[in-house]
Amino acid sequence: MTSATKLIFALAIGTVLAILQNACTNKSDNPGPVTVTTGNIDSILYAQSESAAEGFVAYQNKDTVRASSSASGHSPFFKVRMNAKARSVLGADGKLPVGAVFPEGSIVVKDLYNTVGGARQLVAIMRKESANPYAKEGWLWAEMQADGGAYVSAKDKGVLCAGCHSSNDRDFVRTFDLF
Ligand code: HEC
Repeated sequence: MTSATKLIFALAIGTVLAILQNACTNKSDNPGPVTVTTGNIDSILYAQSESAAEGFVAYQNKDTVRASSSASGHSPFFKVRMNAKARSVLGADGKLPVGAVFPEGSIVVKDLYNTVGGARQLVAIMRKESANPYAKEGWLWAEMQADGGAYVSAKDKGVLCAGCHSSNDRDFVRTFDLF
């Protein structure tokens, strides 16, 4: 081999190695498909809605019971809270910007009360999981008794929920336009 041939050879090997390395790096950067919740989805969603690890914070940091809007299909009083994933895309006003969408794994929870100061009655949960066959408009929709007992199953595919939540441009979350 002449030194010129050796050089070309070395460069060619270098290029191949660089391409291979790049392919591997890209692979590790890409987390792959988001996990799809299977099995007893309602219990899992309920456990997530109660989990400190999710980092729930009250809407606009106001942990107070509000009167539901007249447009609501829910109990008369409520509180809304969002997990850390959901909060990562909120604007400085605590709202999702118009036209924006929540990332996969976002959870929005509504705790429902019959009276101000009374015990929590129900818990309504939306979890962003577009790839789940039970998702409607990209969200899983479930409503549970305060102790986790079944009320409206996520396996109903949001049939009772998504229609009424469709009336805005903030990824189906209604609180932002109303409060
Ligand atoms: C008749 C309309 C209507 C129906 C049906 C409805 N919702 Fe709602 N929902 C609302 C409104 C309006 C709000 C905003 C808060 C309020 O005024 O109560 C809300 C709030 C929520 C929130 C807090 C996040 C947000 O969008 O503001 C969750 C979570 C939620 N609903 C889940 C559900 C689930 C799950 C179902 C079905 C079991 C459902 N909703 C059915 C109207 C509805």
